[in-house]
Amino acid sequence: DVLRVGVVGTGAIGRTHIERINNTLQGARAVACSDVNVEFGTSVAEKYGCKFFEDGEEMIASDEVDAVVVTTIDEFHEKYVTAAVKAGKFVLCEKPLAPKADACKRIMEAEMAGGKHLVQVGFMRRYDPGYNQLKKMLDSGEFGDALMVHCCHRNATCPDYTTTAMSVENTMIHEIDVMRWLLGEEYDEVEVVFPKASRKSTEILRDPQIMYLTTKSGVRIDVEAFVKCGYGYDIKCEVCCEDGTLNLPEPANAMIRTNASRVTPICKDWSERFIDAYNIEFQAWINACKENRVDGPTSWDGYVGQVTASTASIARDTQTKQKIVLEECPEFYK
Ligand code: NAI
Repeated sequence: DVLRVGVVGTGAIGRTHIERINNTLQGARAVACSDVNVEFGTSVAEKYGCKFFEDGEEMIASDEVDAVVVTTIDEFHEKYVTAAVKAGKFVLCEKPLAPKADACKRIMEAEMAGGKHLVQVGFMRRYDPGYNQLKKMLDSGEFGDALMVHCCHRNATCPDYTTTAMSVENTMIHEIDVMRWLLGEEYDEVEVVFPKASRKSTEILRDPQIMYLTTKSGVRIDVEAFVKCGYGYDIKCEVCCEDGTLNLPEPANAMIRTNASRVTPICKDWSERFIDAYNIEFQAWINACKENRVDGPTSWDGYVGQVTASTASIARDTQTKQKIVLEECPEFYK
C-alpha cells in the first residue's frame, strides 16, 4: 500500500519534493500535481508521471490522492491546507504555514474542528542530523544550561523582489522555529538591529540584519541574516553552555588541493545544504501518514513562528524591543 501524494505548487521546491518522493524515498508516490501555471505544471507532471489537475482543490478532494504537499507561494498555503483538512487528508505545508498569524489561527481552528491532527509544517531543520546532534548533547545535561546561541544564515544572493521584512519572515523563520525546538522553550522578546548596510542593499532590502531573541528563561540568541553575502549558502549555530560550547557540524564536503591552496567547498543553496534534512523529514512524514498520525511541527508551531516573525518585523521597523505575545496554546496542540 503506497501512499498516493498530490503536490500543489510545482515550483523550485515542489519539484524537489516530487523527485524525492518518487526517486529517493520509500512507501509513497507523487501521483498528482497542480499549479496555477498550467503549461509548466503539465510539463512537470509529464516528467514525473503524475496526473495534472488545473484546479488544486479538485486534486486535493480527488479519491486518487491520500495525502497532500503544499508548495505554492506563501499566500496560497492557507487555501490548500484548509482544503486538505476539510477533506480529512494529511498535509505537509512548506514554511511559513501562512504569511499572517490570523491565517495560521484559521488553519488551527479548521484542524481542531475536524478533531484530528492532519497538518505538518515544513520546518525541516528539526530533521537535520547536525541540529539533532546539538539537541541530544543539550538534552543530556552534560554541558549544563544553554546561555547564549550565535546563529548565522547567509545566502549567496536572493531574488530582486526580496524585502527587508523577508529576511526575518522567510529566512530567519527557520532559526525562529529550530531554536525554540532546540531549547525547548518559548520566546520572551525580540529586537532587530542593522549593521552597516552592504552596497548590495536595494531600495526595498537592507542587508544584513541581526535579530536578537530572548527566551523565557533568559537565553540570548543572535541571528545574523546576510542574504546577499555573495560567497555561498552558509548556516552556522554555536550554543554556549555553562560547561562547553556546541557547534553545528559543517557539511562534509571533500577538501580540494588546487592552485597552491586547500579548499573545502561551501554549499551553493538550501537544496544542497539541507538535502538530508528534507529526505528524513519526508520519509518520517510518509511513515507517519501510513500509521494514521502526524508527528512533525504542527499548525501551532506554524502560528508561533508567524507571530514571532511579525513581532520581529515591528521591532525592526520601530527600532524597539518587542514582547512576543502568544495566545494560550489550545489543549489540542499540547
Ligand atoms: P516558486 O516560486 O519556485 O514556486 C511556487 C509555485 O507556486 C509556482 O510554480 C507558482 O506557479 C505556484 N503557484 C502560485 N500561486 C498558485 C496558486 N494559487 N495555486 C497553485 N499554484 C500556485 O517558489 P519555491 O521556492 O518553490 O517556494 C515555494 C514555497 O516553499 C514557499 O512557501 C517557500 O517559502 C517554501 N520554501 C521552503 C524552503 C525550506 O527551506 N523549507 C526552501 C524554499 C522554499
